[in-house]
Amino acid sequence: MIARMDTVTLASEKGGVGKTTLTVGFAAELARRGVRVGVVDVDPRATATTWLDVEAPAGEHVGAILGSDDVAGAAADLALPSPWNPQIHVVPGSRDIAGLESAQQEYGDLRLKRALDGWDRDVVLIDSPNRQGGFLIRAALTASDRVVYTTTPDEDGRAGVEWARWNVARYRQLSPLNPNLVEAGVIVTRWPDTIPTIDARNAVTALEEDNDGLVLHPLVPERVAVRSARAAEVWWGDYDRGEPVATAIASLTDQLWPNIAKEA
Ligand SMILES: Nc1ncnc2c1ncn2[C@@H]1O[C@H](COP(=O)(O)OP(=O)(O)OP(=O)(O)O)[C@@H](O)[C@H]1O
Ligand SMILES: [Mg+2]
Repeated sequence: MIARMDTVTLASEKGGVGKTTLTVGFAAELARRGVRVGVVDVDPRATATTWLDVEAPAGEHVGAILGSDDVAGAAADLALPSPWNPQIHVVPGSRDIAGLESAQQEYGDLRLKRALDGWDRDVVLIDSPNRQGGFLIRAALTASDRVVYTTTPDEDGRAGVEWARWNVARYRQLSPLNPNLVEAGVIVTRWPDTIPTIDARNAVTALEEDNDGLVLHPLVPERVAVRSARAAEVWWGDYDRGEPVATAIASLTDQLWPNIAKEA
């Protein structure tokens, strides 16, 4: 397994570009390989929490970390196993954290990082809200070793990556809290592989030009099974027609966590 915890935030400035889908996809794939996965849901809409079928007792969610100063080791206390796979432990999200975004949080950026200390996880995935530059994403970036951007193959997604990267550049320049944060890749999802339109192809070409070596392959194909799985709150890997998406995510897992892949 891994010597120390690897924490990765999935980020984009555009909504609906696969942050949550890739978070739960990587969680399922890593857990399948025997990795102890933590998911921290920093999106006030808590979609990853719902999808992973976890329900927090009142008040026992990520807000107990982000809204308080006494948080050492809190992730381990708050996390609940997902019925998907007991290897996946989830710090549930909650609508209650929406208010924190605008509040002045003195020293608050460090809370999530402190809370992860001592959690018995090999990989921690942080699902972030699409609002960049605010308190929630800063707490996520401060707690992370790496950030992975997600996008769909279109102009909006491309701009979403550009803004998210601009925010990370600004964070690295202005915040002393995590100067070593690594940009680990740009993942393109909902790729129309059966009929790759000219627009989609042009968007990927432009993404590659903009992001100098960061775009990861394969592109994750668009499949209706992902939406069906989301509606049913299950993993699309359980559906035959979700298999191309699961295969692409497995290949991206090999690239993002090469040491784990070797031991798989
Ligand atoms: N490979 C795919 N094939 C088909 N549908 C997909 C795929 N990936 C994501 N989707 C669908 O696209 C929608 C947006 O995805 P998702 O919720 O993961 O994006 P997000 O970036 O987390 O959005 P938000 O910013 O709202 O949190 C969802 O309805 C999801 O089911
Ligand atoms: Mg999401």
